[in-house]
Amino acid sequence: MCGIVGCIGHEKSVAFLLEGLEKLEYRGYDSAGIAVHGGDELKVYKARGKLENLRNLLNGNSSSYSLKAGIGHIRWATHGVPNETNAHPHISSENKVSIVHNGIIENYKELKRELSERGVEFKSQTDTEVIAHLIEDFLNQGHEFCDAIRHALKKLDGAYALGVIFKEDPETLYAARKSAPLIVGVGKNRNFIASDAPAILEHTKRVIYLEDNEIAQIKSSSYKILDLEGNILKKKVETLPWEPVSVSKMGYKHFMLKEIHEQPDVIRQTLFDKLRSTDQPLNLKEVKLTRQQLENLDRIQVIACGTSLHAALVGKYLIEEFTGVPVDVEASSEYIYKRAIVSKNSITIGVSQSGETADTLTAIKQAKAKGSHVLVITNRPDSTMAREADSLLPVNAGFEVSVAATKSYSAQLMAFYLLAIFLAEIKNSLPAERIEEYKKELIQLPQKIEMILSNKEKIHECAIKFHNTRNFIYIARGINFPVALEGALKLKEISYINATGYPAGELKHGPIAMLDETIPVLSVLAPGKVYEKVLSNSEESKARNANMIAVTSEENEHLEQVFDFIINIPYTDEVFSPILTTIPLQLLAYYIAEFLGKDIDQPRNLAKSVTVE
Ligand code: M6R
Repeated sequence: MCGIVGCIGHEKSVAFLLEGLEKLEYRGYDSAGIAVHGGDELKVYKARGKLENLRNLLNGNSSSYSLKAGIGHIRWATHGVPNETNAHPHISSENKVSIVHNGIIENYKELKRELSERGVEFKSQTDTEVIAHLIEDFLNQGHEFCDAIRHALKKLDGAYALGVIFKEDPETLYAARKSAPLIVGVGKNRNFIASDAPAILEHTKRVIYLEDNEIAQIKSSSYKILDLEGNILKKKVETLPWEPVSVSKMGYKHFMLKEIHEQPDVIRQTLFDKLRSTDQPLNLKEVKLTRQQLENLDRIQVIACGTSLHAALVGKYLIEEFTGVPVDVEASSEYIYKRAIVSKNSITIGVSQSGETADTLTAIKQAKAKGSHVLVITNRPDSTMAREADSLLPVNAGFEVSVAATKSYSAQLMAFYLLAIFLAEIKNSLPAERIEEYKKELIQLPQKIEMILSNKEKIHECAIKFHNTRNFIYIARGINFPVALEGALKLKEISYINATGYPAGELKHGPIAMLDETIPVLSVLAPGKVYEKVLSNSEESKARNANMIAVTSEENEHLEQVFDFIINIPYTDEVFSPILTTIPLQLLAYYIAEFLGKDIDQPRNLAKSVTVE
């Protein structure tokens, strides 16, 4: 949510800032801007909307003193509408300081009032602008550059990752962090800052992870990290576990479509890494609990947001079914305002693609503070959550560019399958033959997904028929109920069509009142325990004239009578069906959004990494 970059010592600072921002565009696209030294002043360029608009603005107008400090920002608006005035970088009244910020300053109104009473004029409606004025205020009181920042930070409540440059100190780039991600990239005669690794990977893999309440004072060939009292800290330089990221769509029209098609390989890779043989017990060495602790485990709580929350709900079903251990799943944003209950034999699992989602990060910190062992399932082993974890289970889906999560969700599901089997083996809660069958079936799944991906006509047809509908309902039961939620979320976020997922048995308790011929109802019908039940709930909907769509591996005449569209998928055991049933729902959402001409990879109002509460 908002991305910041900065550099010092780079001979093409403007080009670096623009390229860096391009790699961070998944974090927001309400506006973009940069600030650089130009002549004897700070020059700020900003444009509303996507980065492309800033590029157009800068075309032929990017003169700056290279090698000097520069900062850039990509915005996801929190305070103030997305316009040019509210775009970052912000600059202080006397043009001495320019800053970029990711986070929210909670006491900004109070600070703004104080500064306004002293004659400072505010140009924007943002919470950020106060920081620039505050720093300038301390400069004017005689503090040197870094001290001015330190004193200003002490007055702030809330979250920030900051990049700061000064007109009078062109050879230094400053950065600071509290509850928002920020790394310092250490290069050769040039250094960088960024909200996330992809922005600097082409330039360096050596980074320092800034912690809360730390300030970086960065020159082209040296740096100092200080605390808020001005003490110099010793920090480790770490190596990023990534290669430079390819942002290529590889011939696909959108990243989302490419990422949907990557799912078989993502699952194959996970199985190759973790499931070498089907007749040997799984060894999840990433889980840093003793055998005794695992045997005694009697409760698990899982916290996550959005799509990761849906993966967690499938995980709940699996762990409970395989081990009998009760699992509570909660949205992180709800968890953090409740009494955190942890017990001796329980653990907490945080699930997050980005590993930076503010609500989930706060939730796992709270659970850890209460003494819970925290296991993090994330696609980003270099993230803040990964560094907070007691156990880290990376999911290795590769960089996911599209805001709508697809391959990371499948990878999270795989993590839960492996974890559930691992626990079942330790607790001896399933017969060994069943576990072996399960492992064999897991290995078949990538091929079955490929069959769905090579047979998309029906999904396409369905999208043509329903792309103009305003409301969509998804129903399922049991392990596929979270799939209904996920299908509905995918459709909402990229097509802006109102879509809701219900447990099929709940329809008759209210939602059925909405049904008529204008509403499509999509039923996830996996053969197994609840198949007949979902079918009968589907018949109830058909009787109210709803347009009926099925996603199922069954083929029979009765289904043809109930459903207007049947999307066939290969058969798998009910416990694995979410891996397959999700795929057509991702594709349906994609094709509907495509017919509607929506901005699929960067849907309005969203950002991929939600780093504010
Ligand atoms: O990075 P995280 O998994 O923690 O993100 C959680 C949600 O913000 C995320 O899943 C969001 O719902 C996606 N846009 C869904 O496609």
